[in-house]
Formats: sequence, C-alpha cells, structure tokens
Amino acid sequence: MIKNLKIRALSVATALLLSGVAYAENINYVSGVTGNALENFKEIVAPWEKSTGNSVTFVPMPSSSTDQFGQYRLWLAAGNKDIDIYQTDVIWAPQLAEQFIDLADAAKDLAPKHFKSIIESQTVNGKLVALPIFTDAPALYYRTDLLEKHGASIPKTWEELTTTAQMVQDAERAEGNADIWGFVWQGNAYEGLTCNALEWVKSFGGGQIIEADGTISINNVKAIAAIDLVKTWVGSISPEGVLAYQEEEARGVWQTGNAVFMRNWPYAYGLGNGDDSPIKGKFDVVPLPTGGGHDTSAATLGGWNVAVSKYSEHIDIATSLAVYLASEEAQKTRALVSSNLPTIVALYDDADIAREQPIIPSWKSVFLQAVPRPSAPTKSKYNEVSSKFWSAVHSSLSGDGTTAENFEILEADLQDLKGSGW
Ligand code: GLC
Repeated sequence: MIKNLKIRALSVATALLLSGVAYAENINYVSGVTGNALENFKEIVAPWEKSTGNSVTFVPMPSSSTDQFGQYRLWLAAGNKDIDIYQTDVIWAPQLAEQFIDLADAAKDLAPKHFKSIIESQTVNGKLVALPIFTDAPALYYRTDLLEKHGASIPKTWEELTTTAQMVQDAERAEGNADIWGFVWQGNAYEGLTCNALEWVKSFGGGQIIEADGTISINNVKAIAAIDLVKTWVGSISPEGVLAYQEEEARGVWQTGNAVFMRNWPYAYGLGNGDDSPIKGKFDVVPLPTGGGHDTSAATLGGWNVAVSKYSEHIDIATSLAVYLASEEAQKTRALVSSNLPTIVALYDDADIAREQPIIPSWKSVFLQAVPRPSAPTKSKYNEVSSKFWSAVHSSLSGDGTTAENFEILEADLQDLKGSGW
C-alpha cells in the first residue's frame, strides 16, 4: 500500500517535471518570535507562496537574540539540512559568514534600493551573506496623558527622566495606581542589555565599548557614571524584576498601562496602538535622552536579515524567498503590520506607511545616526565580547561588585581576548 502510494507520488512528480510545472517545495524558515512576528510573517509571505506554488514553514524560536544565536551556531556547525533560511541579527554576519551562501548575484537589482550602509553591514569579504528585511533603532516611549496630567515635560536627559519618572510614579501611586512604574527597559543578561547599556554609555560620552579601530575604551569615568545612574533606577523607578526583562516583558508592563516610560524598538509602536491595547492613542515616541552633561543621544543600531544556509537542499527556492522577503513589496507589508523600519530607501516616502505607522518616516534620521555594536572590529569574537560586557553591566546593576571594579576586570578580559586574536 505504502509502496504503491510512493510510486504514485513519484510518477506525479515526474509528470509535473516533464510538463515543465515546478514541483512545489516547502521551505523551512527559522526565526525568533517577538510581538506578533509569527502571525505577521504569514501575511508577509502569502503573495510569494501564491505566485510560486511553494510553501513556507515558520520554525519559531525564543525572542532572545542570544538564545537564537546559540542554537543556530550548533545547527550550522552540524551541517543541519532541515533549515533553509535563518533570520539573522545584524551583528551575526561576520561570525556566521562561512555557513551561508553569497546572495550578491541574486540581489544585484534589489541591493541598490537598500540603504548602502545596511547592505555593507551584511557583506563580509565581498560576500553578501544576508539580505536585510528590517532595521531597528529604539525609542523612548512616553505616556502623553500621564505627563500632561502631572504637568511634566518630555525628559531630554537621563537625569531628567529619573526625576520625572519618580515624580509621576509617586503621584500616581498616591492616587491609588499601585501597579505603576516610572521606567521599563531590558535588563536581563543577554544581547538586549548590551544594546541598552551601549546607549547609556555612549550618550554619557563614554564611547562604544570597543571603538571602530579596535581600541578597548569601556573602562572610563563617563561609562562608569552612566551605569551608576542606571543602578539607582532598579527598585525605585524600575521594578527589581527589570534585571530579568527582555523586550516583551518591558512591553507587557508598558502596554497594560503600568509604566510612564519605556525603552523599546519600533515593533512596540504598532502593538501599543492596536485596537485591543489599553494605551492606544495615549503615548508617543522621542529619541532616547542624553546624559552626564553630554549633548548627543545614542540609539543602538539593530535589525534583522535573511540568510540561506549552504546546507539547504533547496538553495534556489530558498534564495527566491530571501529575495522576496527583502523586496519593497514584502517590506511595505511588514512596515504596515509590524511597524518595523524598512531598509528600502523609497519606503520612507510611502504615504500609506506614513499614515498607518508615523514612527517610520520620523525614525529615518534616528537609525541613520544609530551606533553600531562592535561586531565589525571584533569579528568572530563579537559574541564573547558582548557577553562579557552584558555580564559586567548586569553584575553592577545587581550590586555584585561596583561598576568601577567590574569595568576594570572587563577591560582586562577584553585585552586577553584581543590578544588571542579577533
Ligand atoms: C532587536 C534588534 C537586534 C538586537 C535585539 C536585542 O531585536 O533588532 O539587533 O540584537 O533587539 O535584544
């Protein structure tokens, strides 16, 4: 019986091939899930499935970039043939370049439509290892209704944010709003803390952890002052639990109406304005504050891409899907449904996007000036560098050693790592 079915399936496939009809394939696409990413992906990919007759299975992974990276590195090292496309973080290209195919030819007409710097960030020794599907730069989300009610203005510095968050939190609690917190952000020991902490340090004038020329700069008084200010937030304007928060935990508190301020990426904008959101129409966004008397704010550059595994058994179809996901059509749908920032220049002038997701056109200048994490200078060692950095920051915020002590040890550890070559 089974044998008969197999023979029949084979002859159908052969007939389709002989008649020139492409045999429908399934592509396995692996990606972390943050917010509504899974539901939205189905909508984004539907036109490609329809026009090619192929299907896509979304393999969901945890939201944490760090957790995804750990798993993908193992799968790729083992030559996993089951995953065709990986959704990759902007920082991974130099570390995983060997495992992905070169997309330069397939994207030769598409790549020039993207911001050049973003394509460059995914190019390693001339190989285009991944195609950008969205970029990321965080915002300071604030409750317009609460600031107005308490006569507060939008903070321009981290010091002002500290005072305003405390004032509004105290006043709200005094009125019986027991669950309100001043400020929520991402304090868990993972890649997201590296992003948050780079923003504090850089906006205090304390550099970028490791500079573009490879100089290790993190152990300086401005960087230490930045982390020391953040430490005062834990248990005062931010819940103790913030040291275990990732993006979705922060959004959970914020979107139920229990935070005055939040640091998060643009995906939280569309969700916060959803019909089922208690804070719909009650918030807005501005660039993150400055600090320590320094006058420029800093947003960490994030973003996601698609890469085709060199172990895939469907490289051509997977490549067609990757090109589609990076295209103007797919990025427009993504912008509309997920409020993710496109990487295609023309979409910043798109009237539908401006109307539905006004954060997008106004965030162009923010992401164009965003600060990259030191993944380019540290190449294959970036993950170790980042994990040493977020660990030192997490310890300092938890009261496990002072920031000055922890940054001194961090500097020595980074010197050792650099000495062994990166
Ligand atoms: C966002 C960014 C990504 C970053 C991650 C950290 O998803 O786009 O680049 O690594 O947040 O949590």
